[in-house]
Amino acid sequence: MLVSTRQLLLDAQKGKYAVPAFNVHNMETIQTVVEAAVELRSPIIVAATPGTMKYAGPEFFIKLVEICANKYDIPIAMHLDHHESYDEIVNAIQLGTKSAMIDASHFDFEENIRRVKEVVDYAHRFDVTVEGELGVLGGQEDDLVRDDKDSKYTNPVQAKEYVERTGIDSLAVAIGTAHGVYKEEPKLDFERLAEIRAVVDVPLVLHGASGVPADQVKKAIELGITKVNIATELKMPFAEKLREVLVNKPNESDPRKYFGPAKEVMKKVAMEKILMCGSNGKA
Ligand code: 13P
Repeated sequence: MLVSTRQLLLDAQKGKYAVPAFNVHNMETIQTVVEAAVELRSPIIVAATPGTMKYAGPEFFIKLVEICANKYDIPIAMHLDHHESYDEIVNAIQLGTKSAMIDASHFDFEENIRRVKEVVDYAHRFDVTVEGELGVLGGQEDDLVRDDKDSKYTNPVQAKEYVERTGIDSLAVAIGTAHGVYKEEPKLDFERLAEIRAVVDVPLVLHGASGVPADQVKKAIELGITKVNIATELKMPFAEKLREVLVNKPNESDPRKYFGPAKEVMKKVAMEKILMCGSNGKA
């Protein structure tokens, strides 16, 4: 059965590790990250942006993850990443999703609270966990593009009020990460993270973890991050390997054969990220 992220993240918070949230796009990539988690006995969050849900069709995507959750004996959550539409979230909840992010971070504080609370009020009736974001991350996540100059770090004082007034289950913080490929090495604002942790008790989420050196992610986990979002670092090697195979074997037309090597390299990265999060052996 698909699980919500509530218990997963509370357990992680207690155990001082993080649960990886892997963004995937199709059956092959869902299988890949789930197999990595099964092998390392890690809880896992399978995440999909609105663009991915549209591409696969929400019924297909949610069912595929649900099939994995029923097949394997590790906790698997299906999470809506960066969703902005109330109606799309409601639809996905009715289809079985137990975890959703409503991203209203680009609105002003009051409007952000209003939109997030609206989703929380609905979702909690079905025991669905909700993630909100305060502060704005730059970069690109699938179809979501935010200019670096519009990025804004999370204000710890506001964070406390935001969590209290929205009733969210987890908070995505902006502490110096960005979505996509970094132009230069990111420097996380650990002081800010510690300040947020000191006044907010819900699990904290780090977006844009691709390209952040492992020691910085681990330090963020020590300081209270319990969910680590990874997309770019998974899809890039998958695409590179697939390209290599198709170029080197121009006569190969069987998807069952040409996807294999791409899945293998992606699985290796997923396993490295699980080890970085310290969630191995926690399922
Ligand atoms: P990256 O693409 O930078 O890994 O970010 C993933 C993410 O934060 C998804 O919400």
